[in-house]
Amino acid sequence: MRDLLPPSVAVAIAGPADWTGELLPAEQACLSDRAVQSRRRDFTAGRVCARRAMADLGLPPAPVPAADDRAPIWPAGVVGAITHTAGYCAAAAARTTDVRSVGMDAEQHRELNPGVRRLVLLPEEEETCARLPSDTSWPIVLFSAKETVYKVWFPVVGSWLDFHDARLELDPDAGTFTARIAVARLAAATVPAPPATISGRFTVADGLVRTAAVLPLG
Ligand SMILES: CC(C)(COP(=O)(O)OP(=O)(O)OC[C@H]1O[C@@H](n2cnc3c(N)ncnc32)[C@H](O)[C@@H]1OP(=O)(O)O)[C@@H](O)C(=O)NCCC(=O)NCCS
Repeated sequence: MRDLLPPSVAVAIAGPADWTGELLPAEQACLSDRAVQSRRRDFTAGRVCARRAMADLGLPPAPVPAADDRAPIWPAGVVGAITHTAGYCAAAAARTTDVRSVGMDAEQHRELNPGVRRLVLLPEEEETCARLPSDTSWPIVLFSAKETVYKVWFPVVGSWLDFHDARLELDPDAGTFTARIAVARLAAATVPAPPATISGRFTVADGLVRTAAVLPLG
């Protein structure tokens, strides 16, 4: 993820020990006693990486609990994002004096079945995918980019965004994407200046699709 985000954003990628690392009490309290082993590992790696990213910013250790809707609750003055997929976990953190929001997502590079494609892609995005080189599963790239867009959007606006509420354009050579948010969602937002566009970067390598984006200040 480091290559996808600006230097003002600290990024930590989980190493082997991080999946069984320490949780702070406020984080431990967010994990249900019934959580299965894989969920415990994912949650733990995300929190260990989140603290390492914050340490890289020069911040003291602080818990990152989860809200009831699962969104991470970052310490005051910090924005960030967490993602995990089989065998891979990353967290990003930045000071609110540097960026307004940050999002990122990792997915296994795979085909999406037709039902999920219909849910995720707008007809014009399907057409874009059909035009692009066939060595990449573009629908999963768009899926990941939209999840990144949601992680940028939600902490700022606090409202749901459907997959069809963001129309994505990709530049496969530059490895960039831009999401344009549906006018109706912008009009319904209850915060000043909801972001009309969210731009980010993507990469497909080693069997993983990785996407990330920041919302600049102002
Ligand atoms: C929330 C969501 C984006 C998470 O993505 P995912 O691929 O399922 O899982 P990832 O591993 O990449 O990310 C999970 C992390 O996202 C974070 N997260 C969860 N809800 C979040 C929210 N509302 N806002 C920001 N981050 C959130 C959490 O840190 C979570 O990890 P944790 O539970 O261990 O703390 C996804 O489950 C979802 O609800 N998507 C539907 C909304 C959407 O994407 N719309 C598209 C708009 S264009």
